[in-house]
Amino acid sequence: METKRWTVDNAVEKLINNPQIKLAAQLLAENEVVAFPTETVYGLGGNAENDGAVAKIFLAKGRPSDNPLIIHIAEREKMASFVEEIPRVADRLMDAFWPGPLTLILQKKKSALSEKATAGLETVGVRMPDHPVALAILKECGLPIAAPSANSSGKPSPTTAAHVAADLSGKIAGIVDGGPTGVGVESTVLDCTSEVPTILRPGGITREQLESVIGSVEVDPALSAEDANPKAPGMKYRHYAPEAPLYLVAGSREYLQQLATQQMEEGKRAGILATEESAGFYKADVVIACGKRDSLDTVAASLYDTLRMFNESEADVIFSEMFPEVGVGHAIMNRLMKAAGNKVIFEHEN
Ligand code: TXA
Ligand code: MG
Repeated sequence: METKRWTVDNAVEKLINNPQIKLAAQLLAENEVVAFPTETVYGLGGNAENDGAVAKIFLAKGRPSDNPLIIHIAEREKMASFVEEIPRVADRLMDAFWPGPLTLILQKKKSALSEKATAGLETVGVRMPDHPVALAILKECGLPIAAPSANSSGKPSPTTAAHVAADLSGKIAGIVDGGPTGVGVESTVLDCTSEVPTILRPGGITREQLESVIGSVEVDPALSAEDANPKAPGMKYRHYAPEAPLYLVAGSREYLQQLATQQMEEGKRAGILATEESAGFYKADVVIACGKRDSLDTVAASLYDTLRMFNESEADVIFSEMFPEVGVGHAIMNRLMKAAGNKVIFEHEN
């Protein structure tokens, strides 16, 4: 299949009656799948009410069929047709954070949604993305749109149209290029069906932000255990992985450098995932600064691009600095741990 690719100017006033937006909406209405930017990562959209469209999403990504998709909407009223009831906490969170990087898991009701989109679960994940292109496409087509991240399953999520093309060219009908995404890590997935709302995937909206609106929030304990069974089916898969083995290093810059030097002495190409503050310190075959340590938002924004760059660099082994688990640092460390398959090297073992 030939994948069409076209650019849309993000300036909001230009998106009304925009032929580029109409083209995307038309393809979606014809049950084709189209990638478009959201504020977190690029999504691969398809009509959530059509089994065939949903099947195309799973096929293009090579995604396991037991992993449900998030339904994207531009107007809250659209939820009424597939959500059983909206608890008060969910209402308050939507007021505070929608549009924005927060997915709410709610009780599903019998509806026109494809069973495949929700992987046969009794619940459904819903979000309203905060991106002018995504919102314009959703409004134009008027359909609930199922949209996972637009990467091949297992690869880092795409934060540019070029990332999408690298993974999915020839497999999908179109790619709408709206430039690089902003947040860089996916939405926070919050289960609102449990007694205490529970974070199933840390993301763009932090635990601290959620708690400032609704009080105490829990975190799925499986997220910090290697072998448990997480409540978000997607969290059990190895993900985001660069091709070379990646190790997180809990220790000093000197120690991380020592590990890299040792590998290079053995004839390996060593890569280091550093920050703008530390990149000048290291000597290795590939040193990439992934944002600034004193601004974790910039680390989140460049994380997936950095992981993809290591593949192009043909590093044999990668060592990464670690980040504080505060604010968006939770999401950064969650994705890095997955990318590393939980491999952490401690400078001081005890
Ligand atoms: O930022 C985002 O959320 C991006 C953009 C494109 O919107 N989308 C995204 O979708 O990250 P995806 O499919 O890559 O990740 C969805 C996650 C998976 O871990 C999935 O298991 C979980 O959400 N999920 C979806 N519906 C669920 C449900 N009903 N119960 C529990 N987990 C659910
Ligand atoms: Mg994904």
